[in-house]
Amino acid sequence: MRFPPDFLWGAATAAYQIEGAVAAGGRSPSIWDVFSRRPGAVANGDTGDVACDHYNRYRDDVALMSSLGLAAYRFSVAWPRVQPGGRGPASAAGLDFYRRLVDELLAHDIAPWVTLYHWDLPQDLEDAGGWPNRDTAERFAEYAGIVFDALGDRVRWWTTLNEPWVSAFLGYSAGIHAPGRTEPAAALAASHHLLLGHGLAASAIRARRAEAEVGITLNLGAVWPATDAAADVDAARRTDGLTNRLFLDPLLLGRYPADVRADLAAITDFGFVRPGDLEVISAPLDLLGINYYRGSMVAGGEPPAQPGPAVFPGSEHVRPVPRGLPTTAMDWEIDPAGMTQTLRMVADNYPAVPLYVTENGAAFDDKVGPDGEVDDPQRVDYYATHLRACHEAIEAGVPLRGYFAWSLLDNFEWAYGYEKRFGLVYVDYQTQQRIPKSSARFFADVIARNGSW
Ligand code: FCB
Repeated sequence: MRFPPDFLWGAATAAYQIEGAVAAGGRSPSIWDVFSRRPGAVANGDTGDVACDHYNRYRDDVALMSSLGLAAYRFSVAWPRVQPGGRGPASAAGLDFYRRLVDELLAHDIAPWVTLYHWDLPQDLEDAGGWPNRDTAERFAEYAGIVFDALGDRVRWWTTLNEPWVSAFLGYSAGIHAPGRTEPAAALAASHHLLLGHGLAASAIRARRAEAEVGITLNLGAVWPATDAAADVDAARRTDGLTNRLFLDPLLLGRYPADVRADLAAITDFGFVRPGDLEVISAPLDLLGINYYRGSMVAGGEPPAQPGPAVFPGSEHVRPVPRGLPTTAMDWEIDPAGMTQTLRMVADNYPAVPLYVTENGAAFDDKVGPDGEVDDPQRVDYYATHLRACHEAIEAGVPLRGYFAWSLLDNFEWAYGYEKRFGLVYVDYQTQQRIPKSSARFFADVIARNGSW
């Protein structure tokens, strides 16, 4: 089983999850610095204050990447580090950190892949309204220009946002991510302004260098109805609509899906969409990043008697139906077939665009053995089956060009804090010692052979 000759192999991380050093060089607080201090918001009261201390240990971490043979490294830039407060002048110290990181990567022949926004909005912009406020999209484009001016000559791959669905719906509707708001109408406005921010940022980058490769990363997942009863089929349509099509359609087709707009009619009239927005949002992409963790099966049911804050606003009656598949430590079903299906869904239903899996991976309860090693056969199996699923998609004609494991390191897993370990490399948070797991060796072998194992 070989992958195409130029297939790009990498691993991914995100700034707030690994960097620590939250006050270094004048960095201002992000919504995650504030949210993680809210009692009960994050497991064990964990914060990203220290995380993996990557800000100070990036050289060792790049050496680690090199030892695994990574061809690319996807990391995110912390907006409040390079533009404290989210408006006004850039921070020289903040930009220098990313310049040093990029130089170190290039010196090791590792291609840097920049994500401009992985959820760490400057708190000052949240105080001014956050993503539900249209101005945040303009601010984001300005920030994108600042980062591109500093790194654009050395970075080929750019993604604007990571998973706008999560920012909008977990952050502003369910309230389980920063900033922890539970306002469904605001979540829909946030979703639109995130996409608008993507479009404005992409155009700011293209204006600076037409041949830059620019895209966006979405979390996508195929959805199945529990039975072919009308209520279940409708539940699947709604879930697919809010997860996948609410983002894919405006980006790749230049319109919002009519059925999803109708589902949401009681919540919003989409009055936040102004003339010209969809043209900005649907400017051609050079690549689409897909983060895949699981597909889902759903059924229609009765709306909960006391509806709480919704992950899927307007579809509170839809419930997930476990399929009896094995699960990870997140309780997420392990569903490699869903990955092939998800990739094919994008390739079959939308205009052709090069696809990259920008995240895929799993949390398990890893332990350091008496020999000091971390043996994680379940994660090895997870990667093996999901890589096979990617290969099947390629054989079926899907233009998949690369794969990034989530994650290089164990890290701050958002509301789960440090309890959930997703790394190829184990992190001892007391000593900051890094221990490559068996899955790291497995992944290194896959890269060395371009696929077969
Ligand atoms: C994705 C996020 C990433 C990590 C993984 C497990 O939704 O992009 O930061 O939390 O899930």
